[in-house]
Amino acid sequence: MRLDKLLAHCGYGSRKEIKALLKKQTVTIDDKRIKDGKQQVDPETESVAVDGKEVHYQAYYYWMLHKPAGVISATEDAHTRTVLDLLAPDDRLLSPFPVGRLDKDTEGLLLLTNDGELAHQLLSPKHHVDKRYLARVAGGQVTLETIQQFADGLTLLDGYQAMPARLAVLKQTEAENEVEIIIQEGKFHQVKRMFEAVGMKVTYLKRLQMGSLQLDANLPLGAYRPLTAEELAALKGMS
Ligand code: URA
Repeated sequence: MRLDKLLAHCGYGSRKEIKALLKKQTVTIDDKRIKDGKQQVDPETESVAVDGKEVHYQAYYYWMLHKPAGVISATEDAHTRTVLDLLAPDDRLLSPFPVGRLDKDTEGLLLLTNDGELAHQLLSPKHHVDKRYLARVAGGQVTLETIQQFADGLTLLDGYQAMPARLAVLKQTEAENEVEIIIQEGKFHQVKRMFEAVGMKVTYLKRLQMGSLQLDANLPLGAYRPLTAEELAALKGMS
């Protein structure tokens, strides 16, 4: 790959900034000073350094984000803050994107990566990856019959036939149900539309798990961290 691309990928700035860096600072490939960003480099076999400090090239990055409400699951938007605005500037330079979407008002687990292949495997309906959510639902009582309707596969109001989903009641008052729901699809507003189909309304939604990956209970809202080696291996193994 090109040296400037490798440096950009490792967070050394935009192409323009890297051009200036190559002029001003000492960038070496196997101890030989290089000023031309077009120079080809093989990060597997050659060692790149900036001012004597070795550059660690990592092709793919994987982060778990605890998405807060109020930001959208996109990489850019003219009006609304996106999940990428929650990242440190250096991490944003690595071009991550969210794997799947959570609505603006939904909280919880969002995987950010630049690994398109893993993203595809996790999102493909063929792979039946479980997504587990905590939801608060108003407008009626979730009963055994409701649970059975979800298990049988609901027909949504627009006629879409949803796949079977697992629903469990965690807490219930007259006004509200707290439930856990596991779905394998990720259609637009899927959980909200499923409850609409039985005459109820989701008032709060949080994703807790995607495949083997569970939201870290110690990760504050709005914070993110790299996946551990174990989390990544499990995710790749199951997808
Ligand atoms: N289902 C929804 O309705 N919204 C989400 O954000 C995720 C699943």
